[in-house]
Amino acid sequence: MLYQGKSKQVFETDDPRRVVLRFTDRATAFNGVKEAQIGDKGRINCAITTRLFAEVAARGVQHHVVDQLSATELLCERVEIVPVEVVVRSRAAGSFSKRYAVAEGTRLDQPLVELFVKSDALNDPLINDDAAVALGLARRWELAFLKETSLVVHQALAAFWAGHGIELVDAKYEYGRAEGRLLLADELTPDGARLWDAKTGEKLDKDVFRRDLGDLGDTYRALLARIGAA
Ligand SMILES: Nc1ncnc2c1ncn2[C@@H]1O[C@H](COP(=O)(O)OP(=O)(O)OP(=O)(O)O)[C@@H](O)[C@H]1O
Ligand SMILES: [Mg+2]
Repeated sequence: MLYQGKSKQVFETDDPRRVVLRFTDRATAFNGVKEAQIGDKGRINCAITTRLFAEVAARGVQHHVVDQLSATELLCERVEIVPVEVVVRSRAAGSFSKRYAVAEGTRLDQPLVELFVKSDALNDPLINDDAAVALGLARRWELAFLKETSLVVHQALAAFWAGHGIELVDAKYEYGRAEGRLLLADELTPDGARLWDAKTGEKLDKDVFRRDLGDLGDTYRALLARIGAA
């Protein structure tokens, strides 16, 4: 094992250019302060990730997934993760609502992009382009590519979810460097996004766990069934 994350494990393979990403049933919130085992979560998140990466690939976005190996494992290109997380928001929610005192659900005129330092020790602080470049977290052209690509990805995924009666409110994207290319990496799951039922506004993402709104396993199972990937 190369890395034990909060919800996934990364394994080396015989090929130094590839890794296996294993989705576990572990759920965490507030930077690991709250945690639980959610039966079936690993399988569901793996299935959703596979489905959504196919969706963005169809829009010409290069990503790290090579193949699904099992119900909970993906073969991926081994990348050097860019330590900057890209968040795209269509409505105010979560930390954005808190920081600027704007009601959760307030629609934003157009999707906006925020950058955060990928650092559990610092609790993922907000950062701007100049500071990220000054700290050597990414090159300026890389940030431009990450932001532009994230808007394309977000639009593709928003359209996908809208087709299933679900609104993509916000989402976090991670990228990795691999042999001179920047690939969309990590996961595309309801752990790292906000998904609201388009009619009822019901939350269909990890906020159910963060805010004790119900059973996360049931929520995720219903979500998977809704996109027909169960
Ligand atoms: N293709 C890849 N090659 C190498 N590392 C990857 C790849 N895809 C994802 N990762 C990294 O593997 C880890 C997956 O574990 P997990 O998401 O559980 O971590 P985490 O505890 O949430 O921590 P983090 O804050 O780093 O995401 C993440 O750090 C992610 O950036
Ligand atoms: Mg993670």
